[in-house]
Amino acid sequence: MSTPILEVRDLRVEYTTPAGPAQAVSGVSFDLAPGEFLAIVGESGCGKSTMLFSIAQLLTYPAQTVGGSVKFDGVDLTTLSAEELRQHRWRDISVVMQSAMNALNPTLSIAAQLADACRAHTDWDDEKIARRSAEVLDMVSIDVAHLKSFPFQLSGGMRQRAMIAMALLLEPKLIIMDEPTSALDVVAQRSLMRQVENLRRSLGFAVLFVTHDMSVVSHFSDRLAVMYAGEIVELGATREVFDHPRHPYSNGLMDAFPSIVGEKRELTGIAGNPPSLVNPPGGCLFAPRCHFATDECREFRPELISVEEHAVRCHLVNPRVRS
Ligand SMILES: Nc1ncnc2c1ncn2[C@@H]1O[C@H](COP(=O)(O)OP(=O)(O)OP(=O)(O)O)[C@@H](O)[C@H]1O
Ligand SMILES: [Mg+2]
Repeated sequence: MSTPILEVRDLRVEYTTPAGPAQAVSGVSFDLAPGEFLAIVGESGCGKSTMLFSIAQLLTYPAQTVGGSVKFDGVDLTTLSAEELRQHRWRDISVVMQSAMNALNPTLSIAAQLADACRAHTDWDDEKIARRSAEVLDMVSIDVAHLKSFPFQLSGGMRQRAMIAMALLLEPKLIIMDEPTSALDVVAQRSLMRQVENLRRSLGFAVLFVTHDMSVVSHFSDRLAVMYAGEIVELGATREVFDHPRHPYSNGLMDAFPSIVGEKRELTGIAGNPPSLVNPPGGCLFAPRCHFATDECREFRPELISVEEHAVRCHLVNPRVRS
């Protein structure tokens, strides 16, 4: 892999709760190459959004990053001041969060919102701001006449695309997206994803993308990370993880989605619930739901072990070396 644009190491996030700290992200590590599209999947509550917020340094109480590092272009973001972070945000890293559709300011026109972002992060004059604003709207196929529009005058899909236009404004090297298309119908979703993909190819930014939509994963991501209870349990080339999932949880996830290319299979899902994040069980966090769990799985927490670029956190795949 070329020098990573993003290096996440042993990232840990806790929520303060009345019952004690809940470990929502427990020791997540991965690299992202320039221009790469990494998809993150996992059932609701497994820590995907919390992890993205932590990477973007946007967490607020009761959540707190309690360990690990997030290096962007070699700089550890966890050590920067608020002002230093402000300089990186939008210019280098931009974020399109879950329910982005409602993240636009309802009282300002699209032009005013784009201009605000430019003024906060650049010294561009009005003419340059107007030119760039028209450019980014055009990139996401919104007619420039809508610069004068207010968010309520745009359809849901257009609002979502306007958010992506804002994210592209300063040509960041990394765009973090948390289910940016979940509020759209299937046709609009696909068209938005194609636009993101074309822009990624032409502009070369990397994408960190959380989704529940396995067809989006399959069509657009280079690599796929599967999360379970705050940990990455499997990480590898998307095709490889799709065709040969090795972790029993990934296997269950793949089975829960109808095959896109192959014959239709019955949706099975995965029985049971994720563990408590306040008092997680010893051993493998998936063991209570795993058909293959052994005494070893219930006793020892497995590590994420990589064999030829395909990493899996499972004793059955990576037997422990006994002393
Ligand atoms: N304010 C909070 N206080 C305590 N725990 C929280 C809080 N917000 C989130 N959590 C817990 O942190 C865990 C991770 O939540 P997160 O929103 O990151 O999950 P997610 O994977 O993004 O889920 P979804 O797919 O539903 O968006 C969950 O188990 C949740 O219960
Ligand atoms: Mg989420």
